[in-house]
Amino acid sequence: MTNSKSITNRLVLILLGMLSCVSSDTVVADREVSPVVFEEHVRPVLLAKCGNCHSDEVREANLDFRSMAALMRGGDSGPALVKGRADQSVLLERIDAGEMPPADQPALTSSEIELIRAWIDAGAVANESDVNSDEWSRRLVEGEQYWAFQPLQRRQQSGTSD
Ligand code: HEC
Repeated sequence: MTNSKSITNRLVLILLGMLSCVSSDTVVADREVSPVVFEEHVRPVLLAKCGNCHSDEVREANLDFRSMAALMRGGDSGPALVKGRADQSVLLERIDAGEMPPADQPALTSSEIELIRAWIDAGAVANESDVNSDEWSRRLVEGEQYWAFQPLQRRQQSGTSD
């Protein structure tokens, strides 16, 4: 009785061991094939480091980084990028030349630059379509700025001090 019980226990342990191997392999495989995606990986970097000058309120050279559609429409010199060709994309040319962001602004880290390069070379994958996604993006960006998602801040009390 005790013997068969311990065999069962051992079998269960072996099975559990096999299961955990399978599931951790799957996780690794998923990560290897998951692409760099505009909305998830690239836009946050562009908005943080370039958004002050290339967004809705300030749009230097008419270039807006909030949506895929706006990137493909591009600025004064045409589309900001050529899908699959980082070396032909003005966005990256200006970064590589050390011209963007301007010298007095927080620079991109080298891993951020390589992320953008890899994203363009892999075909500039995005969840949204290239066309007519402005409205969708505007809502998304506004959604991120929605008051309930902001860190708590002490309210300015006015006229109550005495
Ligand atoms: C402090 C403001 C500022 C920031 C921040 C900034 N830019 Fe610019 N950008 C400009 C100005 C001004 C111009 C127009 C003059 C020029 O072309 O140099 C410009 C032009 C450009 C152009 C040329 C567009 C065209 O069609 O001619 C590209 C590409 C560009 N910026 C990319 C970037 C990227 C990428 C970032 C972030 C890594 C960035 N910029 C951050 C001010 C800024």
